[in-house]
Amino acid sequence: MNVFYAWQSVRRISRTATVLSRSLSTCKKAKPIKMALKSPMMKFYNCYEVPAFGLGTWKSEPGKVAQIVKDAIDVGYRHIDCAFIYGNEKEVGEALKAKMDEGVVKREELFITSKLWNTFHRQDLVEPSLKQSLKDLNLEYLDLYLIHWPMAYKEGDDLQPKNKDGTFAMSDVDYLDTWKGMEAVMCKGLTKNIGVSNFNSEQIERLLKNCTIKPVTNQIECHPYLTQKKLSNFCAERGILVTGYSPLGSPDRPWAKPEEPKLLDDPKLGEIAKKYNKTPAQILIRYQLDRNHIVIPKTVTKARLTENSQVFDFKLSPSDIACIDTFDCGGRFVPMTGTEKSPYFPFHIPF
Ligand SMILES: NC(=O)c1ccc[n+]([C@@H]2O[C@H](COP(=O)([O-])OP(=O)(O)OC[C@H]3O[C@@H](n4cnc5c(N)ncnc54)[C@H](OP(=O)(O)O)[C@@H]3O)[C@@H](O)[C@H]2O)c1
Repeated sequence: MNVFYAWQSVRRISRTATVLSRSLSTCKKAKPIKMALKSPMMKFYNCYEVPAFGLGTWKSEPGKVAQIVKDAIDVGYRHIDCAFIYGNEKEVGEALKAKMDEGVVKREELFITSKLWNTFHRQDLVEPSLKQSLKDLNLEYLDLYLIHWPMAYKEGDDLQPKNKDGTFAMSDVDYLDTWKGMEAVMCKGLTKNIGVSNFNSEQIERLLKNCTIKPVTNQIECHPYLTQKKLSNFCAERGILVTGYSPLGSPDRPWAKPEEPKLLDDPKLGEIAKKYNKTPAQILIRYQLDRNHIVIPKTVTKARLTENSQVFDFKLSPSDIACIDTFDCGGRFVPMTGTEKSPYFPFHIPF
């Protein structure tokens, strides 16, 4: 092996060890985060703390998102789920800065996630992409950086590159190479944690066999129509927390058709909500928390921001959880149509 590469690997391993030992030492030092709303904290395998409840920002329009993030922080939200592809990180960043400048919250009290978009999977593109998100978000580090999807798109300025037949133009970058870039940005201190999103069990297994730093979470679609029982257990057995996205059934997803079922209007869900004197949305959020999942419902409506956070004064009974589990019909609201030809498309296997 060439001496330069040997040195690089020794340096990488020793930096990784430093980062890991720093993460592990936070286990003892972690300070409790002050919150008006009482979201429980969960711990990643490295003992880094994450508020189990956060705010989603996909489809939160520029013009609305800054105000809702400010309101969220005022109400006590401390966990904001962002992504470069949502096109609103600048506005989220304005809100974060405003609240930190006002002294409402300190950086270390916030938990901010962003995600690496599919056109930036090449290893050398990971760091500039993360730095762009940091710049937009007005931050010096992220708490969590995720590979948004396992499949890579053709690199370039077009964030949604298409073939003539309307499918996405894929790149053959392997997510294992992308992960090396993710490990490098964590070792540089640009993010405290790294994880994945939309990975299936085989992809997780392959990543675990080939990584130096294990992912802390797999962020996946999860709600009563797609309970993800097997993938959730699979991740839990490996010390990887599940973050449930689209917990309310993503009614504002751009491709929703009027005839498709609306989870929030499900009559059986409505009956359970009545029994607990809660709203269907609150039951759906509690369903994730009671399964030890992190949950990140999205809203740009102030009243719903409060409603969604009022889920810490009750728990679902095991029999009601079991009843909700029976709603599962493999109903995926975010199927990523047009990417099926990628060798890394995650939804060809059962879980
Ligand atoms: N990793 C990934 O690939 C991925 C994919 C999808 C989502 N995510 C993340 O997960 C977050 C949540 O998922 P999502 O945005 O797809 O959908 P969601 O949170 O399941 O649903 C959001 C929708 O529900 C409405 N809503 C919110 N609270 C409500 C309430 N109490 N009563 C009735 N309606 C309510 C919102 O309306 P208003 O906003 O108009 O109030 C919005 O239309 C995203 O924002 C994003 O951060 C990640």
